[in-house]
Amino acid sequence: MSDASTLERPAGPAAADTPILLGLLAEVTHKCPLQCPYCSNPVALEAPSGELTPSEWGRVFRQAAALGALQLHLSGGEPLVRRDIVDIVREARAADLYVNLITAAVTLTPEKADALVAAGVDHVQVSLQDATAEGCGRITNMKGAYEKKRAACRLVTERGLPLTLNAVVHRHNLDNVELMIDLAVELGAHRLEVANTQYYGWALANRAALMPRPDQVEHAGKVVEAARERLRGTLAIDYVAPDYYARYPKPCMSGWGREFLAVSPSGDVLPCHAAASIPDLTFDNVRDVPLAEIWRASPAFQRFRGTDWMRDPCRSCARREEDFGGCRCQAMMVTGDAANTDPVCVLSPHRAALDAALEAAVSAPDTLFRWRRYERG
Ligand code: SF4
Ligand code: FES
Repeated sequence: MSDASTLERPAGPAAADTPILLGLLAEVTHKCPLQCPYCSNPVALEAPSGELTPSEWGRVFRQAAALGALQLHLSGGEPLVRRDIVDIVREARAADLYVNLITAAVTLTPEKADALVAAGVDHVQVSLQDATAEGCGRITNMKGAYEKKRAACRLVTERGLPLTLNAVVHRHNLDNVELMIDLAVELGAHRLEVANTQYYGWALANRAALMPRPDQVEHAGKVVEAARERLRGTLAIDYVAPDYYARYPKPCMSGWGREFLAVSPSGDVLPCHAAASIPDLTFDNVRDVPLAEIWRASPAFQRFRGTDWMRDPCRSCARREEDFGGCRCQAMMVTGDAANTDPVCVLSPHRAALDAALEAAVSAPDTLFRWRRYERG
């Protein structure tokens, strides 16, 4: 993907007008022992042979910190399958970043947990595919994943690290939200994120199999509301409502190129982890271009930064500085043009297409998942 160093580059904004970078997502590998059908990685997964080394990651982390970044989300794929993950964490700590390890956790051992703590991990976020062994096994396509995750959560809390559980929810586990909340309390999590599936990449390929029914969505919302009240001071619960059922979109990525960037395993720098789904964007690579230059002036970052790129109805809408026109990747998936208003918006001329897709998905019979895995061209 990296060919931008040879392209004619627009000047971009002056350094003083460039937003301050708050955080970065480092996808250190696309390898993963699990096969969740809603994975946020691109369908064309990157091969391990091109992955950045720990010292290359260290350079990226120092450059990100110099741009103002405070938080690093260390993710994948599954970051723990990298044998040098402890070295990568050490590099992040040396760059003075707060290190949030986002992990499936099924390969965490006591020795690895000790080494990660010593290297400077600040926080661990474990994915929770379901609150039962049967459900977790079915969604991950891995027998024994549930028990391994439970054991891993204990390794985290025993070492005094704050633990967040992250549950991506859909038709097959949304009815278990109450059990997920109970499990989060039992495992000593500080926070539970219950995020409805976002439909791009793998999830879009599995949309008909994953889309929740309206009654499930309504029930889950009420369960979360009641639990928030009941567990105030014990467990914080974040709930990301399902886009397709909303009237207005979320401010995806807090606005394109405004606060965050993502770095792929081989060093491509993206304004959003799913941005590779927008076919006419090309991405600079940290092996070729300094991160500050990419953040300030890369065409991929400039493309949807601010509000000048907007068309109507966003262009003339009072909410444009609140939601930034929603999600560029979703606009691409549903309307075929990433510069369109997010079709979730009731003001979008494409909302009817989204409603039709919702109706078709909800009424579709259960189908087999297309598992997340390396696929041949
Ligand atoms: Fe947001 Fe655009 Fe819809 Fe206005 S028209 S609410 S800016 S997505
Ligand atoms: Fe890419 Fe929303 S997922 S902008």
